[in-house]
Amino acid sequence: MKNITLEFKKKKETNTPISVITCYDYSFAKLFAQTEVDSILVGDSMGMVIQGHGSTIPVTLEDIIYHTKAVCKGAPNKTIIADMPFLSYQTSVEDGIRAAGTIMKETTADCVKLEGDSKLVVELTHRLNEMGVPVFVHLGLTPQSVNTLGGYKVQGKTAESRARMIQKSKELTDAGAFAILLEMIPESLGKEITEAVPIPTIGIGAGRYTSGQVLVMQDLLGMNDEFHPKFLKKYANFADDIKKAVGDYHDDVVRRAFPGEENGFKD
Ligand code: KIV
Repeated sequence: MKNITLEFKKKKETNTPISVITCYDYSFAKLFAQTEVDSILVGDSMGMVIQGHGSTIPVTLEDIIYHTKAVCKGAPNKTIIADMPFLSYQTSVEDGIRAAGTIMKETTADCVKLEGDSKLVVELTHRLNEMGVPVFVHLGLTPQSVNTLGGYKVQGKTAESRARMIQKSKELTDAGAFAILLEMIPESLGKEITEAVPIPTIGIGAGRYTSGQVLVMQDLLGMNDEFHPKFLKKYANFADDIKKAVGDYHDDVVRRAFPGEENGFKD
């Protein structure tokens, strides 16, 4: 039986780094299921990498449920984190409970992820945890608030914002969050928060000292040749590989090299 809360807790206690990758569909989930990666996030980054929007804001609860179902089918052996999309919980704790409950009822996700450190998010974390829904909270650069943050910028650079993020990490831990995602913050702050809370921290652009790391699959596989942020390491060059494969296929069709005799069916 999978239990993301216990798995992550044990990794923090034994100082074992945690790897998380995003995924949005069955085929990639099936491949990731055959790796040692610890956990899969069905992120609202799908707004950008799947739907082609400029932000995560247009993603709906239905989108998250649809993609989470596909990922759960492909990787039943992995713990799956489902993102709560914009406006599924910001309106009230009750709306958040209903949205999280719908995700948990309609998919086999292991937990939900919420962005921010507002009073509502702290209260919702507490209520969901009490109901038996594990909560992963997302601090630092929270993309659903990109319009008030003034862009995709490093957060926690002032003494005041640093102190707030440390304080809120403790509050969210007390409210029952089982892990904290830290996005685009100084490495020293990632280290300080990781040392300040007993639960694991998972970083993206948060430096070397968080309990684990998360990357968007399209980024780590090198599928977008126009995206090179400082925090990213590309582990493959799918953009070139895919363009070459599709180009070779086209050339073969045009010169009648595909299909070959071996690809045809006999009478
Ligand atoms: O939605 C997402 O994919 C995220 C990333 C920061 C990993 O939250």
